[in-house]
Amino acid sequence: MLNQDQTPLIDALKACTTRPHAPFYTPGHKRGKGISPHLADLLGKTVFQADLTELADLDNLFAAQGVIQEAQQLAAAAFGAAKTWFLVNGSTCGIEAAILATCGMGDKIILPRNVHSSVISGLILAGAIPIFVNPEYDPVLDIAHSITPSAVESALQQHPDAKALLTVYPTYYGVCGDLSAIAFLTHQYHIPLLVDEAHGAHFGFHPALPTPALAAGADLTVQSIHKTLGAMTQASMLHIQGNRINIERVNKALQLLQSTSPSYLLLASLDAARQQMAIHGKNLMSRTLQLAEEARTKISQIPGLSILDIPPKKSSGFVDLDKTRLTVNVSGLGLTGFAAEEILDEKLGVTAEFSSLQNLTFIISLGNTSADIQQLVQAFTTLAKMTLLTDKYQICQYSNDAIVGGIMSISPREAFFAASEILPLEETNQRICAEIVCPYPPGIPVLMPGELITKPALEYLQQIQAMGGFISGCADTSFRTLKVVKA
Ligand SMILES: Cc1ncc(COP(=O)(O)O)c(C=O)c1O
Repeated sequence: MLNQDQTPLIDALKACTTRPHAPFYTPGHKRGKGISPHLADLLGKTVFQADLTELADLDNLFAAQGVIQEAQQLAAAAFGAAKTWFLVNGSTCGIEAAILATCGMGDKIILPRNVHSSVISGLILAGAIPIFVNPEYDPVLDIAHSITPSAVESALQQHPDAKALLTVYPTYYGVCGDLSAIAFLTHQYHIPLLVDEAHGAHFGFHPALPTPALAAGADLTVQSIHKTLGAMTQASMLHIQGNRINIERVNKALQLLQSTSPSYLLLASLDAARQQMAIHGKNLMSRTLQLAEEARTKISQIPGLSILDIPPKKSSGFVDLDKTRLTVNVSGLGLTGFAAEEILDEKLGVTAEFSSLQNLTFIISLGNTSADIQQLVQAFTTLAKMTLLTDKYQICQYSNDAIVGGIMSISPREAFFAASEILPLEETNQRICAEIVCPYPPGIPVLMPGELITKPALEYLQQIQAMGGFISGCADTSFRTLKVVKA
């Protein structure tokens, strides 16, 4: 039985920072001595003593046999995995590795349309062919949920040669589909279920949170420990269980995708976040859930606002909700989510995770305080009063059929490498897109390399832009031109 109170990586790092020696290795700042005073002024000097490289006592991320291996084993036990890899390039590299480890050139992979752009990058790298399944979509709330087991079943029936199924669980809004049923169906076809669980790293630490992906039957899951737990930005984990994932291919893929100089600050933050959750997770999550519940109750009483909740009649694309994720619909105030986000941020001292046309989404985590919640509730109370006094902000009618459309003409990889040209937006209808076009946040691609550009997709993106969102992924972020495959 492992002792979860241990922090092998932090201990080894601490020992290295105090060992007197003359350093003739990277990084050049030599344990902070050469650091710029500007950076030291911001961060202090201590942090740089631990910004070390792969010294003999610090193990090696790509051939872990010492303290990194110990830390990863502790993490595997704490997160319910058979094996865990620490990631220093975010869940982005974990998701790309998951695809590279299961699909080769021309192999089919079944996935929902509302994937994060890292999945598209994985498809380009692997040369895999996406078989998109439309997620359940709530047109009233303008939110895409999970793919359903019945949609998965028909995709599997039509494409029994698919090599893997990848899904998003939870969505950015905290919505969870019926993952156990999806796992059961996927396994009937003897292929692995890969899960983008970037937003669900905290699930395993409290019974009131949704079932973690591994417990629901996933073969591989990728979690951003930095998003909802206490690790530093970019620090993530990839977990596996069972025998459907080839460990050597995961190793090879991660080596391809990550730096040969992984940051020990990030790795140590994973060790720390795991220890913190293994020992204090239940209490921390109880408190976080309480704070979230308080915000939920108070904000939902403000006229004009409503909060995303589990529908009374559960649908198979929405069977559970992470209650620490708060999605507030502001359309009843006559505001777009974008406009509300700007007012909250600039005038009322509250910054959301992201906004969409109708909604604002807030991440409530172990780092939030009761004072934060009071400020949030107060800000919404003020916002509701302000909008009663002004007719400045208007919501617009729009249609986002675009995010559930899309015909792949050629593979994302072929489009990525094809000769391309840049055309004015008006001339791109019915051409093959050569870049990712992704309104941000939440980072769900509307157009991707290889896909036929349609009028509804262009109109949707223009509307998002007109209402204050911004378009990322494409070279021209003003979105006046678009890169297409040469005819
Ligand atoms: C659903 C989803 N998957 C994957 C990622 C990528 O995670 P990371 O930022 O850890 O690379 C994100 C990031 O926003 C995300 O929202």
